[in-house]
Amino acid sequence: MKIVFVGTGYVGLVSGVCFAEFGFTVTCVDKDKSKIESLRQGKVPIYEPGLDALMHSNVKAGRLFFSDNLGEALEDAQVVFIAVGTPPRYDDDHADLSYVFAAAEEIARLSKRYILVVTKSTVPGGTGRKVAEAMRKANPDLEFDVASNPEFLREGSAINDFMHPDRVVVGVESQRAKEIIDKLYHPIKAVNIPILYTSLESSELIKYAANSFLATKIAFINEIADLCEKLGADIVDVALGMGLDKRIGKQYLETGPGFGGSCFPKDTIAFIRMAEQANVRSRVVESVVMSNDLRKYRMAEKIFDACGGDVKNKNIAVLGLTFKPNTDDMRESSSLIILPELMREGAIMQVYDPQGMHEAKKLFSGNITWYDNAYAAMKNADALVVLTEWNEFKQIDLAKVKKLLKTPLIIDLRNIYKPQEMHKAGFKYISLGRETV
Ligand code: UGA
Repeated sequence: MKIVFVGTGYVGLVSGVCFAEFGFTVTCVDKDKSKIESLRQGKVPIYEPGLDALMHSNVKAGRLFFSDNLGEALEDAQVVFIAVGTPPRYDDDHADLSYVFAAAEEIARLSKRYILVVTKSTVPGGTGRKVAEAMRKANPDLEFDVASNPEFLREGSAINDFMHPDRVVVGVESQRAKEIIDKLYHPIKAVNIPILYTSLESSELIKYAANSFLATKIAFINEIADLCEKLGADIVDVALGMGLDKRIGKQYLETGPGFGGSCFPKDTIAFIRMAEQANVRSRVVESVVMSNDLRKYRMAEKIFDACGGDVKNKNIAVLGLTFKPNTDDMRESSSLIILPELMREGAIMQVYDPQGMHEAKKLFSGNITWYDNAYAAMKNADALVVLTEWNEFKQIDLAKVKKLLKTPLIIDLRNIYKPQEMHKAGFKYISLGRETV
């Protein structure tokens, strides 16, 4: 079966490569000619573990192609996925669906025979039906179906998440479309992963509800961590004690400097707008957004307080800038709030991130020095801050750190070290929701 992906962002590229790995012939299409050119040259535009190798092997096997010509790609394709961005609209924060509709209309105009159009982009409930209307208008003679198939992969573990998901959700309303989807996901169904078939609207809503719920878990545990600090409890034990209850579950209960990335911040806001439009007030998610926004500023304050309420001309080493490890993605990262807040108070930043610095250099200005390894970044610093939990920071040589820092002060916003070990190693160690030692 021949598949086309429109949009070569995170979801489009990873899903396209993975479907090629399943044995389908896939063409990834993008309007951005230079991006297509560089993909053709074998350059992967994002840092995602495993993607490089999988992309190259499938290109080599003749199953994966890149094109800027949608009409050509659609010839003898049976299914086309729309995986374009749905960023917040600049004036009202609603999900901007213009790229989705533009892609759908173009597909309608360029298709010569039956086509199944599957929306993978995150879109509000009701969009699929509107997409079908727009396509009918653009080409009244075309035979087609529209389906919704939200993606749940995480950056940093995208390939594994795609290949071994907890479930696949598909909103589909015709037998013909369902049969095509069944074929596409056969490799996943064959290993007993559930495929949940729903209406278009339910499928669209599942994506927003899932992301908003996970974001809620994070915001909730972050507030519990604050409470732990005041009451002398330990957030690691509290989260475990909660998470062992199967009704709650252990995942997404790790406290941190506030969630970031291209999804939770955007999707929680779009969820609120979607609910407002439907005359439903989503007070829970509204609080989550507010709590998470404020948390990023509170984290800057925490560092400020740890430095004795004065960071003027102090050198602060920062390990990690990306919104999570194993990605070079800086979108909505807490570092984008925390670093400027500290620099505003006169701090001098010494930073290192294993993959994010290329992108980060475009986003920060001010008193920052960039280093190419963790130890170099911490030399003579008055404090060391851990912002992203990259594995290489977990294995750091504490004796060396102690020698390099001017003041043995560590503020760990990801709880990657054990307080007692840090105390023994001679540091003042401040983490989240645990005792300061
Ligand atoms: C998220 C969802 O997890 C995916 O299921 C979804 O497909 C994706 O959004 C999307 O909509 O495309 P992602 O943004 O890649 O994936 O990253 P996550 O691993 O979920 O982390 C998001 C943020 O939450 C990060 O800043 C992370 O540090 C933070 N987080 C996560 C915590 O602070 N604590 C946790 O316990 C988990």
